[in-house]
Amino acid sequence: MDYKITWLGHAALQLEIEGTTLLVDPFFPNPAASFSNPDTIAADYILVTHGHGDHVGKAVTIAKRCDAMVICNAEIADWMKKFGVKTHSQHLGGGFSYPFGYVKLTMALHGSCLPDGSCGGNPAGFLITLASGKKIYLAGDTGLFGDMRLIGEEGIDLAVIPIGDNFTMGPSDALRAVKLLQPRAVIPIHYSTWELIAQDADKWAEQVRTQTKTEVVVLKPGESYQV
Ligand code: NI
Ligand code: MN
Repeated sequence: MDYKITWLGHAALQLEIEGTTLLVDPFFPNPAASFSNPDTIAADYILVTHGHGDHVGKAVTIAKRCDAMVICNAEIADWMKKFGVKTHSQHLGGGFSYPFGYVKLTMALHGSCLPDGSCGGNPAGFLITLASGKKIYLAGDTGLFGDMRLIGEEGIDLAVIPIGDNFTMGPSDALRAVKLLQPRAVIPIHYSTWELIAQDADKWAEQVRTQTKTEVVVLKPGESYQV
């Protein structure tokens, strides 16, 4: 197994890579996954894409309980440090080799204010290169941008992208994103958490299948995809 990814509702993900557990944007419990319990979930690393409350979530609590390291931009890392959290800060375009793989921060078109109003720097996505060479692109909250083509040039095995509209790309721009990224597979997230971002993922999947060669994996909260 190269990796196993589990959707924990909204933008929260659990990524298992050869015995290492990564949590991404741990918004627990969230309206789409009330089963997610921040008091019991395990993590070795926590990746936070940006400062918004539905992404920072319970990162501080979980990081302290699990002695997990938070990987994020420098501004969010400085904020986390105030709570005694172990962090590794990076910034857009910069990569670092962790024991589980190489993580590069990518641009995202969005905001990043932290829950208490502190400056959260710029929002980001993550491009993770595993030991096997497979690359996973987590777009974070973002609008469509043309440089997704550059990210796609790296050869993406799996892209995880928002389709909810209103706060991020909606279905039609997310379809264009798949065409720029050309991943082998794509998982849609950040939709149907609330009525405001309600989307029909199966309908979107059908459009992607018709117009691209990308495999679409529509998960329900709690379900996993394994490669
Ligand atoms: Ni956001
Ligand atoms: Mn969000």
